[in-house]
Amino acid sequence: MFEGKIALVTGMTSGMGRATAIAFAKEGATVVMAARREERAAEVEKEIAATGGKAFFVKTDVRKPEDVENLFKAIMDKCGRLDFAFNNAGVSSPHNPVVTKYDDDEWDRIMETNLRGVWLCMKHEIDIMKKQGGGVIINTASILGVVGDWGLSSYCASKHGSLGLAKTAALEYCKDNIRINTICPGPIMTEMLEKALPFMPKMLEVMAGKTALRRVGDPEEIAGAALWLCTDEAAFMIGKEIAIDGGYITY
Ligand SMILES: NC(=O)c1ccc[n+]([C@@H]2O[C@H](COP(=O)([O-])OP(=O)(O)OC[C@H]3O[C@@H](n4cnc5c(N)ncnc54)[C@H](OP(=O)(O)O)[C@@H]3O)[C@@H](O)[C@H]2O)c1
Repeated sequence: MFEGKIALVTGMTSGMGRATAIAFAKEGATVVMAARREERAAEVEKEIAATGGKAFFVKTDVRKPEDVENLFKAIMDKCGRLDFAFNNAGVSSPHNPVVTKYDDDEWDRIMETNLRGVWLCMKHEIDIMKKQGGGVIINTASILGVVGDWGLSSYCASKHGSLGLAKTAALEYCKDNIRINTICPGPIMTEMLEKALPFMPKMLEVMAGKTALRRVGDPEEIAGAALWLCTDEAAFMIGKEIAIDGGYITY
């Protein structure tokens, strides 16, 4: 389906990014993989190569403008174009204080990764896609980019911001044939949830209980949507979000 296409996936050393990188490669795209953990990236690269797929890793901290610049230089040096970008890297916090007690550094870490990091990548992606005549950008926000949740002010603010950023950029650049949309996952079984388990042992039951399906999702259930958004079947969709959340119940 995507032979000859170049697809960037940020945050692909685990979870949804990993599943999406593997899915893009299975469909014939050359996958550019960006994250911080080199050993984990090598495992994903090996897995993709074992099935005949094409991928290469550029170590990137999306909070650092120089890393992001280097990432897009590598893409242009090696591939000369970028067709799809999945801005998926993100962090949450296991500590969930209310707004007035939120730690300054923790607030900045989450906003810098989930919002500023997405913006830094989008600036380069849009520049490249404008010059080449188009492309598709997908950001991973969250169902918590649509509703709030107790103790998660920084995360919710970052994901609401990510959604607003994508909606605005979609309006600004649709004339350049760039389609920008957002995926809003509900609770998905990834390292992000695993890391929070020691702090909240009943978290999986609680998360599952917030969905109509009474379960958490799998990363592959997000990858399918990301790939579909890159197809021509999604040509009439811009500046919108797809919630893949098991029927998340707001309260
Ligand atoms: N799991 C859920 O329930 C859920 C629900 C809604 C939305 N989301 C969102 O989905 C996205 C993927 O998360 P996930 O659940 O798949 O979690 P995950 O398994 O923890 O994956 C997060 C990925 O982001 C990367 N990352 C984190 N900080 C980074 C940075 N500064 N620079 C570059 N890469 C960075 C991590 O790689 P390195 O550590 O190697 O850098 C990792 O590959 C995130 O944006 C998250 O907020 C998750």
